[in-house]
Amino acid sequence: MDERGWWRRGVVYQIYPRSFQDTNGDGIGDLPGIERRLDYVADLGVDAIWISPFYPSPMADFGYDVADYCGVDPIFGTLQDFDRLLGAAHARGLKVIVDFVPNHTSEAHPWFVESRASRESAKRDWYVWRDPAPDGGPPNNWLSVFGGGAWEFDPATGQYFLHSYLKQQPDLNWRNPEVEAAVFEALRFWLDRGVDGFRMDVLWMLVKDEQFRDNPPNPDWRPGMLPHLRFHPAFSTDRPETMAIVRRMRALLDSYPGERVLIGEIYLPIRRLVAYYGEAGDGCHMPFNFKLIQAVWEPREIDALVRRYEGALPDGAWPNWVMANHDNPRIAAKVGPEAARAAAVLLLTLRGTPTLYYGDELGMENVPIPPERVVDPWEKNEPGQGLGRDPERTPMPWNDGRNAGFTEGEPWLPLGPEELNVAAQARDPDSMLNLYRRLLKLRRAEPALHSGAWVPLGVHGEVLTYAREAADGRRLTVAINFADRPGEARLDGEIVLCTDRAREGERVSGTLRLKANEAVIVR
Ligand code: GLC
Ligand code: CA
Repeated sequence: MDERGWWRRGVVYQIYPRSFQDTNGDGIGDLPGIERRLDYVADLGVDAIWISPFYPSPMADFGYDVADYCGVDPIFGTLQDFDRLLGAAHARGLKVIVDFVPNHTSEAHPWFVESRASRESAKRDWYVWRDPAPDGGPPNNWLSVFGGGAWEFDPATGQYFLHSYLKQQPDLNWRNPEVEAAVFEALRFWLDRGVDGFRMDVLWMLVKDEQFRDNPPNPDWRPGMLPHLRFHPAFSTDRPETMAIVRRMRALLDSYPGERVLIGEIYLPIRRLVAYYGEAGDGCHMPFNFKLIQAVWEPREIDALVRRYEGALPDGAWPNWVMANHDNPRIAAKVGPEAARAAAVLLLTLRGTPTLYYGDELGMENVPIPPERVVDPWEKNEPGQGLGRDPERTPMPWNDGRNAGFTEGEPWLPLGPEELNVAAQARDPDSMLNLYRRLLKLRRAEPALHSGAWVPLGVHGEVLTYAREAADGRRLTVAINFADRPGEARLDGEIVLCTDRAREGERVSGTLRLKANEAVIVR
């Protein structure tokens, strides 16, 4: 594969390391476990893995509270395990993207321990400390994503510190150049080891309003929406100064050989999201596009959304699509198990780099978590509102043996239904797993799919159609029936892929009858 283009043509596969494969019986997945399963990942037909955080951490937010940017938590293994995993991935032609958490550290990070020690500490200004409001309360009305206020009072020094997430996750002060220098040194640590890129956690929140103004009420907020969005986070997120930092991150990556990719976790409306590509293409390679996660599974809405996103992309910007991750419901939970196959076809045939979430290739569903097994701090802080993320983080089921082959011990989260596992699906040519394998193989083989233009052909009834067209004019047409009843598309050619494998090879002339929730790719 052309080195300069790997992330454009490629498919990213997200691994939540706690849940992929345990190798030492503690019930928690680890880096040697990922290494053990690399053949599976390579055979699936993806090009890169993104591994959620494995750094030393008190695990208040399961690793998104980092206590040392340059190490591996003993739960996950050792730095040597990481190097071995990286080498083994590269040997299979797989790129490795690591998750990096620049917005905040753990309260246990030595930087914060020092910052908190006194107002005179040399690292005091590495975090966001403010005096109490005149009434002794928090400095402003900013809210934590995980519930409650975003300020925690520190009685020993009489000031509040900012935490956009848990109070165990104090926000770094990116207005202080020493912070940038220290974080960039940590990025170099991983780049020097040979990682192929970073997925930057909450990249749009790095910089805060210099005057710490109150966020205005959000007139669009309705019950059921994320509680902290009652206020529009105008002053606590997406500040204009952020882009300069993103550009410097990108320049750092570009100074390394090969194409090291910068992916940003960014939840913003399309207009603001695409700004993170940078005006001269000097920002993120991929500001994560979560619009499919937020969209209703409805053909007109999806069609309009793809048009809007495609239309908003700056010149030269390469699109990307995500339908699920460790913070959001699984695809089968979002669209329903009947439509999950059609959703796979959509995700893997739109123009742009798709990111898959481990287990979605099996049609894993959100696993119900009994109250006594809830571990996600968000669910604990704001229970019963459907905010908890444990259901989409459950262990990967490998076979029908004990604990689905995930662990010899007690799995940290409950497993899903026994019959759903890799071994069973590998044996069944009609399985979801084999659909994903066929899709990924076709996508890799067809320039129209991995690099071609996206040509909208509209929605007829409940059937969405579009074509993908390669530079040489070769075209594949995709038709997806979003309905629970049959539908029709006007098409000519041969079915090269279908959610129902039996139809592959079928000739179509004029009208194609689609079964409920069926999707096809026609040449
Ligand atoms: C990101 C992560 C999420 C984490 C949060 C705080 O949104 O994806 O899992 O809880 O940042 O780091
Ligand atoms: Ca383990």
